[in-house]
Amino acid sequence: MEEIVEATGAADIYGGERPQMEAALDELVQTIKGLRSTMTVETGFDPIEHILARVKSEESMREKCRRKGLPETSESALHELYDGLGIRVVCSFLSDVYALRDHLASDPSIQVLEERDYIRHAKPNGYRSYHMIVRTHRGYYAEVQLRTISMDTWAALEHHLHYKKRFGGNQKLIVQELKRCADELASTDVSMQTIRDMILSEED
Ligand code: GTP
Ligand code: MG
Repeated sequence: MEEIVEATGAADIYGGERPQMEAALDELVQTIKGLRSTMTVETGFDPIEHILARVKSEESMREKCRRKGLPETSESALHELYDGLGIRVVCSFLSDVYALRDHLASDPSIQVLEERDYIRHAKPNGYRSYHMIVRTHRGYYAEVQLRTISMDTWAALEHHLHYKKRFGGNQKLIVQELKRCADELASTDVSMQTIRDMILSEED
């Protein structure tokens, strides 16, 4: 029995800390749910559609270590790479993404280490989301992705296509068309925000 535990321990890229990571992830989700309630009370609207949380799988963490030229150790997985814990929050409107970002950034239970605004500065392929690297008070790092429903739709579909490793003659057109779809969805987000603001201003 002991041998089995040891063998599993040796294969564990997180050095046996997975249960503590799950707990830290749970706490972070609870924090976000708390902010969600506060914001709903403040504005009368629930800013969030849904929340996904995961501990990166053994295999993807190992693959990422190799890709980044890091040794496949718990030191790399826990202290060199910051997305062992991942949370994706899908919001309703653009303004909800930024309001949630502000609430999260001022929450005392986390420290924000890095932010990337791929909404104002979309990736060349059209990918949009607001990324935050945070450190929880338990000392684990997490990547928080905030996005609208439209951004999530695009990212999910783009991910399904697995076109990046193909090199067919259509590649250039595929990339162009995906970018066009991303930009159309982004423009719809702006229109929906404008409609919402119009409705809210009439209610005052
Ligand atoms: P890795 O991409 O994981 O090596 O890390 P990075 O340091 O380049 O971070 P980046 O901010 O580029 O991306 C982190 C995560 O954002 C990814 O793991 C995806 O979940 C998401 N992401 C980034 N770019 C894309 C994209 O082009 N398409 C999709 N579907 N998701 C993306
Ligand atoms: Mg990347």
